Amino acid sequence: MTDDYLWFEGLPFLVIGYRYEVIKEVCAQFVIKDEDIVTVSYPKSGSHWLIEILCLIHSKGDTKWIRSVPIWERAPWLESEDGYKLLKEREGPRLLASHLPFHLFPKSFFTSKAKVIYIMRNPKDVLVSGYYYWTITNFSKKPESLEQYFKWFLQGYVPYGSWFEHIRGWMSMRHRKNVLLLSYEELQKDPRSTIERISQFLGKKLNPEELDSVLKNSSFQVMKENKMSNLEILSEEFSSRHFKITRKGICGDWKNHLTVAQAEAFDKVYQEKMAGFPKELFPWE
Ligand code: A3P
Repeated sequence: MTDDYLWFEGLPFLVIGYRYEVIKEVCAQFVIKDEDIVTVSYPKSGSHWLIEILCLIHSKGDTKWIRSVPIWERAPWLESEDGYKLLKEREGPRLLASHLPFHLFPKSFFTSKAKVIYIMRNPKDVLVSGYYYWTITNFSKKPESLEQYFKWFLQGYVPYGSWFEHIRGWMSMRHRKNVLLLSYEELQKDPRSTIERISQFLGKKLNPEELDSVLKNSSFQVMKENKMSNLEILSEEFSSRHFKITRKGICGDWKNHLTVAQAEAFDKVYQEKMAGFPKELFPWE
Protein backbone atom coordinates (compact mmCIF):
# COMPACT_ATOMS: atom_id res chain seq x y z
CA MET A 1 0.00 0.00 0.00
CA THR A 2 1.31 3.42 -0.82
CA ASP A 3 0.68 7.03 0.05
CA ASP A 4 2.20 8.65 -2.96
CA TYR A 5 3.55 8.26 -6.45
CA LEU A 6 7.02 8.02 -7.87
CA TRP A 7 7.55 11.45 -9.43
CA PHE A 8 9.57 11.91 -12.60
CA GLU A 9 9.72 15.27 -14.38
CA GLY A 10 6.53 16.32 -12.64
CA LEU A 11 4.66 13.19 -13.70
CA PRO A 12 3.23 10.60 -11.29
CA PHE A 13 4.50 7.05 -11.90
CA LEU A 14 3.77 3.75 -10.21
CA VAL A 15 5.64 2.95 -7.03
CA ILE A 16 6.07 -0.80 -7.32
CA GLY A 17 8.26 -2.13 -10.11
CA TYR A 18 9.43 1.35 -11.18
CA ARG A 19 12.58 3.32 -10.34
CA TYR A 20 13.53 6.91 -11.04
CA GLU A 21 16.92 5.99 -12.54
CA VAL A 22 15.38 3.42 -14.86
CA ILE A 23 12.75 5.81 -16.16
CA LYS A 24 15.44 8.42 -16.70
CA GLU A 25 17.65 6.01 -18.60
CA VAL A 26 14.75 4.74 -20.73
CA CYS A 27 13.65 8.22 -21.71
CA ALA A 28 17.17 9.44 -22.46
CA GLN A 29 18.86 6.42 -23.96
CA PHE A 30 16.65 3.51 -24.95
CA VAL A 31 17.19 2.56 -28.56
CA ILE A 32 14.02 1.65 -30.43
CA LYS A 33 14.89 -0.58 -33.38
CA ASP A 34 13.34 -0.46 -36.85
CA GLU A 35 11.77 -3.90 -36.44
CA ASP A 36 10.18 -3.15 -33.03
CA ILE A 37 6.43 -3.00 -32.54
CA VAL A 38 5.32 -0.70 -29.73
CA THR A 39 1.91 -0.44 -28.12
CA VAL A 40 1.34 2.88 -26.41
CA SER A 41 -1.62 3.82 -24.28
CA TYR A 42 -2.83 5.80 -21.34
CA PRO A 43 -3.50 3.23 -18.57
CA LYS A 44 -6.86 1.44 -18.73
CA SER A 45 -7.47 2.07 -22.42
CA GLY A 46 -7.39 -1.58 -23.50
CA SER A 47 -3.61 -2.02 -23.61
CA HIS A 48 -3.66 -5.69 -22.61
CA TRP A 49 -6.36 -6.48 -25.14
CA LEU A 50 -4.25 -4.94 -27.89
CA ILE A 51 -1.13 -6.78 -26.72
CA GLU A 52 -3.02 -10.09 -26.79
CA ILE A 53 -4.14 -9.37 -30.36
CA LEU A 54 -0.59 -8.50 -31.42
CA CYS A 55 0.77 -11.69 -29.87
CA LEU A 56 -1.86 -13.75 -31.68
CA ILE A 57 -1.18 -11.99 -34.98
CA HIS A 58 2.53 -12.68 -34.47
CA SER A 59 1.87 -16.40 -33.91
CA LYS A 60 -0.72 -16.48 -36.74
CA GLY A 61 -3.48 -17.48 -34.36
CA ASP A 62 -1.50 -20.22 -32.62
CA THR A 63 -2.26 -20.04 -28.89
CA LYS A 64 0.90 -21.71 -27.53
CA TRP A 65 2.68 -18.42 -26.79
CA ILE A 66 -0.25 -16.67 -25.11
CA ARG A 67 -0.95 -19.75 -22.98
CA SER A 68 2.58 -20.34 -21.78
CA VAL A 69 4.23 -16.94 -21.27
CA PRO A 70 2.91 -14.12 -19.04
CA ILE A 71 1.72 -11.13 -21.02
CA TRP A 72 4.28 -8.83 -19.35
CA GLU A 73 7.10 -11.02 -20.67
CA ARG A 74 5.66 -11.19 -24.18
CA ALA A 75 5.37 -7.40 -24.35
CA PRO A 76 7.53 -5.97 -21.57
CA TRP A 77 6.61 -2.57 -20.16
CA LEU A 78 9.45 -0.38 -21.35
CA GLU A 79 9.66 2.04 -18.44
CA SER A 80 9.30 -0.60 -15.71
CA GLU A 81 12.36 -2.03 -14.01
CA ASP A 82 11.83 -5.65 -15.11
CA GLY A 83 10.51 -4.70 -18.53
CA TYR A 84 13.53 -2.57 -19.32
CA LYS A 85 15.88 -5.35 -18.22
CA LEU A 86 14.11 -7.87 -20.45
CA LEU A 87 14.03 -5.55 -23.45
CA LYS A 88 17.68 -4.58 -23.24
CA GLU A 89 18.65 -8.23 -23.53
CA ARG A 90 16.10 -9.19 -26.16
CA GLU A 91 17.30 -9.88 -29.69
CA GLY A 92 15.30 -9.74 -32.89
CA PRO A 93 11.94 -8.03 -33.45
CA ARG A 94 10.54 -7.01 -30.09
CA LEU A 95 7.06 -6.30 -28.88
CA LEU A 96 7.11 -3.42 -26.39
CA ALA A 97 4.45 -1.75 -24.30
CA SER A 98 4.55 1.72 -22.84
CA HIS A 99 2.36 4.25 -21.12
CA LEU A 100 4.88 7.05 -21.53
CA PRO A 101 3.53 10.37 -22.71
CA PHE A 102 4.82 11.55 -26.04
CA HIS A 103 7.25 14.12 -24.65
CA LEU A 104 9.09 11.51 -22.54
CA PHE A 105 9.13 8.72 -25.13
CA PRO A 106 12.66 7.68 -26.25
CA LYS A 107 13.75 10.03 -29.00
CA SER A 108 15.29 7.15 -30.97
CA PHE A 109 11.76 6.34 -32.11
CA PHE A 110 11.61 9.46 -34.26
CA THR A 111 14.39 8.31 -36.52
CA SER A 112 13.34 4.66 -36.58
CA LYS A 113 10.85 2.74 -38.69
CA ALA A 114 9.43 0.98 -35.63
CA LYS A 115 5.67 0.67 -35.68
CA VAL A 116 3.66 2.28 -32.92
CA ILE A 117 0.04 1.48 -32.21
CA TYR A 118 -1.65 3.95 -29.89
CA ILE A 119 -4.90 2.76 -28.35
CA MET A 120 -7.31 5.27 -26.84
CA ARG A 121 -10.63 4.93 -25.03
CA ASN A 122 -13.49 7.11 -23.89
CA PRO A 123 -11.85 8.93 -20.97
CA LYS A 124 -14.92 8.52 -18.77
CA ASP A 125 -14.56 4.73 -19.09
CA VAL A 126 -10.81 5.08 -18.54
CA LEU A 127 -11.60 6.95 -15.33
CA VAL A 128 -13.99 4.28 -14.02
CA SER A 129 -11.70 1.42 -15.01
CA GLY A 130 -8.75 3.17 -13.35
CA TYR A 131 -10.68 3.78 -10.16
CA TYR A 132 -11.24 0.03 -9.71
CA TYR A 133 -7.77 -0.93 -10.87
CA TRP A 134 -5.79 1.40 -8.63
CA THR A 135 -8.05 0.58 -5.70
CA ILE A 136 -7.57 -3.16 -5.95
CA THR A 137 -3.87 -3.25 -6.90
CA ASN A 138 -0.89 -1.90 -4.97
CA PHE A 139 0.87 -0.16 -7.85
CA SER A 140 -0.18 3.30 -6.94
CA LYS A 141 -1.88 5.68 -4.58
CA LYS A 142 -5.31 4.30 -3.68
CA PRO A 143 -8.34 6.55 -3.94
CA GLU A 144 -10.76 6.52 -1.05
CA SER A 145 -13.82 6.99 -3.23
CA LEU A 146 -14.86 7.41 -6.83
CA GLU A 147 -15.63 11.03 -6.02
CA GLN A 148 -12.05 11.58 -4.91
CA TYR A 149 -10.65 9.73 -7.93
CA PHE A 150 -12.86 11.79 -10.24
CA LYS A 151 -11.16 14.95 -8.97
CA TRP A 152 -7.70 13.42 -9.19
CA PHE A 153 -8.34 12.33 -12.77
CA LEU A 154 -9.33 15.79 -13.91
CA GLN A 155 -6.30 17.27 -12.14
CA GLY A 156 -3.97 14.68 -13.69
CA TYR A 157 -3.08 13.48 -10.19
CA VAL A 158 -3.20 9.84 -11.31
CA PRO A 159 -0.60 7.45 -12.78
CA TYR A 160 0.96 8.95 -15.93
CA GLY A 161 -0.71 12.28 -15.33
CA SER A 162 -3.35 13.97 -17.42
CA TRP A 163 -5.30 11.87 -19.92
CA PHE A 164 -5.80 15.04 -21.96
CA GLU A 165 -2.10 15.75 -22.29
CA HIS A 166 -1.32 12.13 -23.07
CA ILE A 167 -3.76 11.97 -25.92
CA ARG A 168 -2.92 15.41 -27.28
CA GLY A 169 0.76 14.54 -27.36
CA TRP A 170 0.38 11.24 -29.16
CA MET A 171 -2.27 12.58 -31.52
CA SER A 172 0.35 14.88 -32.96
CA MET A 173 2.00 11.75 -34.40
CA ARG A 174 -1.14 10.55 -36.13
CA HIS A 175 -0.06 11.42 -39.67
CA ARG A 176 3.13 9.40 -39.53
CA LYS A 177 3.18 6.28 -41.67
CA ASN A 178 4.52 4.15 -38.84
CA VAL A 179 1.85 5.19 -36.32
CA LEU A 180 -1.59 3.62 -36.11
CA LEU A 181 -4.28 5.16 -33.99
CA LEU A 182 -6.92 2.80 -32.64
CA SER A 183 -9.76 3.00 -30.19
CA TYR A 184 -11.17 0.55 -27.67
CA GLU A 185 -14.59 1.46 -29.04
CA GLU A 186 -13.82 0.37 -32.61
CA LEU A 187 -12.31 -2.86 -31.33
CA GLN A 188 -15.58 -3.50 -29.50
CA LYS A 189 -17.77 -2.50 -32.42
CA ASP A 190 -16.01 -4.43 -35.13
CA PRO A 191 -13.16 -6.54 -33.78
CA ARG A 192 -12.69 -8.51 -37.01
CA SER A 193 -12.12 -5.50 -39.26
CA THR A 194 -10.01 -3.80 -36.64
CA ILE A 195 -7.77 -6.86 -36.30
CA GLU A 196 -7.47 -6.93 -40.10
CA ARG A 197 -6.45 -3.26 -40.04
CA ILE A 198 -3.80 -4.01 -37.44
CA SER A 199 -2.37 -6.95 -39.36
CA GLN A 200 -2.28 -4.90 -42.56
CA PHE A 201 -0.47 -2.11 -40.75
CA LEU A 202 2.07 -4.65 -39.51
CA GLY A 203 2.38 -6.19 -42.95
CA LYS A 204 1.31 -9.60 -41.61
CA LYS A 205 -1.27 -11.35 -43.67
CA LEU A 206 -3.65 -13.73 -41.91
CA ASN A 207 -5.70 -16.40 -43.65
CA PRO A 208 -9.38 -16.71 -42.60
CA GLU A 209 -8.70 -19.50 -40.06
CA GLU A 210 -5.86 -17.56 -38.50
CA LEU A 211 -8.02 -14.46 -38.28
CA ASP A 212 -10.81 -16.49 -36.64
CA SER A 213 -8.38 -17.74 -34.05
CA VAL A 214 -7.02 -14.26 -33.28
CA LEU A 215 -10.58 -13.03 -32.88
CA LYS A 216 -11.69 -15.88 -30.65
CA ASN A 217 -8.62 -16.05 -28.45
CA SER A 218 -8.44 -12.31 -27.80
CA SER A 219 -12.11 -12.12 -26.83
CA PHE A 220 -13.00 -10.94 -23.36
CA GLN A 221 -14.26 -14.36 -22.26
CA VAL A 222 -11.19 -16.24 -23.45
CA MET A 223 -8.77 -13.65 -22.05
CA LYS A 224 -10.58 -13.73 -18.75
CA GLU A 225 -9.87 -17.46 -18.49
CA ASN A 226 -6.22 -17.22 -19.57
CA LYS A 227 -4.11 -16.76 -16.47
CA MET A 228 -1.10 -15.80 -18.60
CA SER A 229 -3.05 -12.78 -19.85
CA ASN A 230 -5.51 -11.71 -17.16
CA LEU A 231 -2.83 -10.77 -14.56
CA GLU A 232 -4.21 -13.21 -11.96
CA ILE A 233 -0.71 -14.65 -11.52
CA LEU A 234 0.78 -11.27 -10.55
CA SER A 235 2.62 -11.62 -7.27
CA GLU A 236 0.79 -10.62 -4.10
CA GLU A 237 3.08 -7.64 -3.80
CA PHE A 238 1.19 -6.11 -6.73
CA SER A 239 -2.41 -6.95 -6.03
CA SER A 240 -3.94 -7.45 -2.66
CA ARG A 241 -6.95 -9.58 -3.52
CA HIS A 242 -7.73 -12.16 -6.12
CA PHE A 243 -7.67 -9.95 -9.15
CA LYS A 244 -8.06 -10.08 -12.93
CA ILE A 245 -7.58 -7.21 -15.35
CA THR A 246 -10.66 -8.35 -17.24
CA ARG A 247 -13.15 -6.51 -15.04
CA LYS A 248 -16.18 -5.71 -17.21
CA GLY A 249 -14.88 -5.10 -20.71
CA ILE A 250 -17.66 -2.89 -22.04
CA CYS A 251 -18.12 0.58 -23.51
CA GLY A 252 -20.07 3.14 -21.52
CA ASP A 253 -19.70 1.71 -18.02
CA TRP A 254 -19.23 5.31 -16.87
CA LYS A 255 -23.00 5.71 -17.17
CA ASN A 256 -23.37 3.27 -14.28
CA HIS A 257 -20.95 5.23 -12.11
CA LEU A 258 -20.87 8.97 -12.76
CA THR A 259 -23.64 11.27 -11.61
CA VAL A 260 -25.23 13.68 -14.10
CA ALA A 261 -23.36 16.55 -12.42
CA GLN A 262 -20.04 14.69 -12.69
CA ALA A 263 -20.62 13.87 -16.35
CA GLU A 264 -21.40 17.54 -17.06
CA ALA A 265 -18.35 18.74 -15.15
CA PHE A 266 -16.25 16.22 -17.07
CA ASP A 267 -17.63 17.37 -20.43
CA LYS A 268 -16.82 20.97 -19.60
CA VAL A 269 -13.19 20.18 -18.87
CA TYR A 270 -13.05 17.92 -21.93
CA GLN A 271 -14.26 20.69 -24.20
CA GLU A 272 -11.70 23.13 -22.84
CA LYS A 273 -8.77 20.72 -22.97
CA MET A 274 -9.60 19.20 -26.34
CA ALA A 275 -10.45 22.46 -28.08
CA GLY A 276 -9.07 22.53 -31.60
CA PHE A 277 -9.09 18.78 -32.08
CA PRO A 278 -11.42 17.47 -34.77
CA LYS A 279 -14.25 15.61 -33.03
CA GLU A 280 -14.26 12.93 -35.76
CA LEU A 281 -10.97 11.59 -34.41
CA PHE A 282 -12.75 10.23 -31.39
CA PRO A 283 -15.49 7.60 -31.47
CA TRP A 284 -17.18 8.69 -28.24
CA GLU A 285 -19.84 11.36 -27.93
P1 A3P B 1 -12.78 -2.33 -17.56
O1 A3P B 1 -12.09 -2.07 -16.26
O2 A3P B 1 -13.66 -1.20 -18.00
O3 A3P B 1 -13.47 -3.64 -17.60
P2 A3P B 1 -5.66 -1.85 -19.77
O4 A3P B 1 -5.25 -3.15 -20.36
O5 A3P B 1 -5.19 -0.67 -20.58
O6 A3P B 1 -5.27 -1.77 -18.34
O7 A3P B 1 -7.24 -1.76 -19.86
C1 A3P B 1 -8.03 -2.59 -19.04
C2 A3P B 1 -9.46 -2.53 -19.56
O8 A3P B 1 -9.54 -3.31 -20.76
C3 A3P B 1 -10.44 -3.17 -18.55
O9 A3P B 1 -11.63 -2.41 -18.70
C4 A3P B 1 -10.59 -4.57 -19.12
O10 A3P B 1 -11.75 -5.23 -18.74
C5 A3P B 1 -10.56 -4.29 -20.61
N1 A3P B 1 -10.23 -5.50 -21.38
C6 A3P B 1 -9.19 -6.33 -21.21
N2 A3P B 1 -9.23 -7.34 -22.09
C7 A3P B 1 -10.32 -7.13 -22.85
C8 A3P B 1 -10.92 -7.84 -23.95
N3 A3P B 1 -10.39 -8.96 -24.43
N4 A3P B 1 -12.05 -7.35 -24.48
C9 A3P B 1 -12.60 -6.21 -24.00
N5 A3P B 1 -12.09 -5.49 -22.98
C10 A3P B 1 -10.96 -5.95 -22.39
